[in-house]
Amino acid sequence: MYNNYETLVCEQKKMKIYNNVLDMIGNTPMVHLRTGIPDNGLTACVKLEYYNPTGSLKDRMSYHIIKTAMAEGKLKKGDTVIDNSSGNTGSAMALVALQMGLKAVVTTPIKTSKEKIDLMKSYGAEVIVTPEVDVHDDPKGFFAVARRLAKEKGYFDLDQYDSQLNVEAHYNTTGPEIWRDTEGKITHFVAGIGTGGTFSGVARYLKEMNPKIKTIAVDPEGSVFTDYILEGKDVPGHSYKIEGIGSDVITKAMHKDMVDEVITVSDKDAFLRAREITINEGLSIGGSSGAVAVAMEKASAYLNEGHVMVGIFGDAGIRYLSKYFNDDWMYKQGFLE
Ligand SMILES: Cc1ncc(COP(=O)(O)O)c(C=O)c1O
Repeated sequence: MYNNYETLVCEQKKMKIYNNVLDMIGNTPMVHLRTGIPDNGLTACVKLEYYNPTGSLKDRMSYHIIKTAMAEGKLKKGDTVIDNSSGNTGSAMALVALQMGLKAVVTTPIKTSKEKIDLMKSYGAEVIVTPEVDVHDDPKGFFAVARRLAKEKGYFDLDQYDSQLNVEAHYNTTGPEIWRDTEGKITHFVAGIGTGGTFSGVARYLKEMNPKIKTIAVDPEGSVFTDYILEGKDVPGHSYKIEGIGSDVITKAMHKDMVDEVITVSDKDAFLRAREITINEGLSIGGSSGAVAVAMEKASAYLNEGHVMVGIFGDAGIRYLSKYFNDDWMYKQGFLE
């Protein structure tokens, strides 16, 4: 039934002993995606970023930013790095910082689940929980507190939202891996946009390799990016439940000139698709990956044989067991009837 998938040669992973956990960042596997994809010769596959050591794509940029700052003498052993995070960046930054002889401080909003706070702590982060605020740069909020502490205490600010090293991490690693693993056959690239770093870095690399490659950005309903990309306007957004993608501010890691198309996905569609893929294909994925899968289905309406579409699955479902993998939570939100 899926004989078109044989067009991509799957090379058996060779046995290898890594020197340390940081060497295990990147080189994540890709797998064919079936749910929602027509059986018309189109090849659709997803890159499973939850195979990174802390379970998300944020390991890549944390490692690249910290390694570069140390090489440039901006950070030395014993120093402290800080960023605001609702989970994935906090764990990634703490893992990298501690392995490189640094300390990590994370600010996180009170709504962050206990599991995620405990996970960040388990990697050695000092976690500062801040009150919920309506305005992004409210001085009490997790964003402003991180910036203030960086200034006052001389902490190194990871600054993932605006750092071009965030983009470069994906230009240097995620993009080349996709090109290599599809043997240069990729025609369409699909990824969620949170800071924009993953999308911008991968898209830039792929377009340099083949300018005909089309890039599709995935944004949750309520995020400010869609209006910004389509009309260049900074229109206030509204809240949404998908974690990891979307934003309430325009970021400098988001290079809108790299976007060919933007697809907006609702919380409900993303969560239901994440659950469906976990059951159908045994890939336990986060809500942002569900959103990417919905966008891949929409994009596949005009794709067929000869097209190779690659999506990014940013993290795993295990982080969300008390949310959209929980039926009560889904009923309460009105996402299940
Ligand atoms: C869990 C998660 N976090 C973040 C992102 C977005 O990454 P970035 O901040 O690089 O835009 C994604 C993208 O798919 C994701 O799945």
